[in-house]
Amino acid sequence: MASRIPAEFIDELITRTDIVEVINRRVPLRKAGKDYQACCPFHDEKTPSFTVSPDKQFYHCFGCGAHGTAIGFLMDFEHQEFRDAVEELARAAGLPVPNEDESAPKGPDTRPLYALLEKAAQLYQRELRQHPEAVRAVDYLKGRGLSGQIAAGFGLGYAPPVWDFLIGRLGRTEQDLRHLIQAGLVVEQDGKHYDRFRDRILFPIRDRRGRVIGFGGRLLGDGKPKYLNSPETPLFHKGRELYGLHQALKAQRTPQRLLVVEGYMDVIALAQFGIDYAVATLGTATTPDHLRHLLPQTPELIFCFDGDQAGRNAAWKALETCLPLATGQQEIRFLFLPEGEDPDTLIRQEGRAAFEERLQQAKTLSDFLLDHLATGIDLNTLDGRARLGTRVTPLLERLPAGLLRDLLRDRLSKLVGLALPNLPPPPSRRALGHRRPSPPPTTRHQAATPLRLAIAILVQYPELASVLSDLDEDWRQLNSPGIPLLADLLGTLARHPGLGSAALLERWREMEGFPFLRRLADPGLLAHVPPDGLAPELAGAIQRLNHEAVAARSSTLFNRASTAEWTEEEKDALRLAIQSSRTGSSVL
Ligand code: UTP
Ligand code: MN
Repeated sequence: MASRIPAEFIDELITRTDIVEVINRRVPLRKAGKDYQACCPFHDEKTPSFTVSPDKQFYHCFGCGAHGTAIGFLMDFEHQEFRDAVEELARAAGLPVPNEDESAPKGPDTRPLYALLEKAAQLYQRELRQHPEAVRAVDYLKGRGLSGQIAAGFGLGYAPPVWDFLIGRLGRTEQDLRHLIQAGLVVEQDGKHYDRFRDRILFPIRDRRGRVIGFGGRLLGDGKPKYLNSPETPLFHKGRELYGLHQALKAQRTPQRLLVVEGYMDVIALAQFGIDYAVATLGTATTPDHLRHLLPQTPELIFCFDGDQAGRNAAWKALETCLPLATGQQEIRFLFLPEGEDPDTLIRQEGRAAFEERLQQAKTLSDFLLDHLATGIDLNTLDGRARLGTRVTPLLERLPAGLLRDLLRDRLSKLVGLALPNLPPPPSRRALGHRRPSPPPTTRHQAATPLRLAIAILVQYPELASVLSDLDEDWRQLNSPGIPLLADLLGTLARHPGLGSAALLERWREMEGFPFLRRLADPGLLAHVPPDGLAPELAGAIQRLNHEAVAARSSTLFNRASTAEWTEEEKDALRLAIQSSRTGSSVL
């Protein structure tokens, strides 16, 4: 992982960058009052609701709720990594990007590696057409039903059955050879060098921006290992990359859904049948890094697994990885295929429409979670329902505040049949943070809680922090997930007075609270507050939190009435569930 970029540098970069210029180069803007406007590049629209504010160095769409800084724009619009976006803006601003820790060992210069990998991909692709032995490879691919067009589209190639194909062409100097080794294309053993890939069909693996970073190589028949992949290199980390993501994003800038499958051949077969939104992990389980890549790209993510026990286990693991990131902003679903089939075999048997019908039926995350945990439990008994409560509660606690947690908590309380008066009313579906489809801006504030409101005002108008200097600080004792974030925000603003909204937000980008903070940076959330009402709203929100803290200290949290016949353990478990649901919706 590249070393961190110091926060002060990002502050400086935001100051020196003009977001209007950055966006205007990609989406032509028109002046409208003191802001600029265009039709939103993130959703379809005919009248412009995409607004760029030079004052706040922020963009915002009143239609779909998309919003962010110049860095965020490059990340969302061009699918750039954070570091790439920073580097591009820094180049434009004439600032060299420093590293947090200059003494840290620098990785090798990666530029020659990208160039080599690209050349290797071209050479392999050419060999598929012209090497005498490649007839076997072509026959193999045809035998699996691949069209020449789709093979070309994914850049498939063939590594000839010799030890020095690449070495002979790309590794003539010592330095070139060293680069080939660093790129994972050549293996060094006992002082000898040889090509890693021989007599295999090669699948170039591209990063999101389309640069070749590695290869997967398949045997032409049976044998082991079936696939040989590039090793970990400075460019290639298999726990981070997704095969096919570049192609999927090229097919649709903001795909309505993304499908996560297991194999190279699955991605390609699906694409051949018109399902151009599938990506594959590279022989690993789904990692949080994968999800951080995928979730921002789409409103719906579907995982596809075998229907057998191994598939169900893998799906459960994926679900657990999803939990900390599942806000409910995206729909996350699970598709289980009939045993013995994979997407490649299935789409060839039944075609696109039937396969998409399966996708339509995929289990939601909540259904899968509850079904899985209810396995072996009889929900007709009180005991069974209590056990379900005990099982679900710890998972509920791993979910971030948001629609999904609200929804699951509601369903749990219905399932366990707990007297509903004990629970807070179901949260409005218009709760803050619900992005797509967006309610009209004027109603978006309805579910604003004091904590969200305070944070939203602070991140959008950091200069108002001073309003709070005379207020009590009982709120700091509240036990709710957003409180540390509020405290951190105020701490940062105390240390760096004058920090603007965009710079403040960017300081959080690599931190846990970022998705939440980013949502609260949505100017639409405060559209109902007149400019001179912001300071009183902020102070009022903090005062309400203070009252809440005082009240929490002096009152019992639970209504113990209706559960007399429960064991102590069951009661504890359910109290926990109720408690987490309470803090969940009354404060956040
Ligand atoms: P599968 O065995 O399901 O591969 O492994 P597949 O894509 O269906 O392959 P075909 O259809 O037999 O050609 C899924 C993924 O696991 C990784 C690869 O990324 C593969 O696409 N894998 C599998 C390996 O890395 N090495 C192996 O030997 C096997
Ligand atoms: Mn397969």
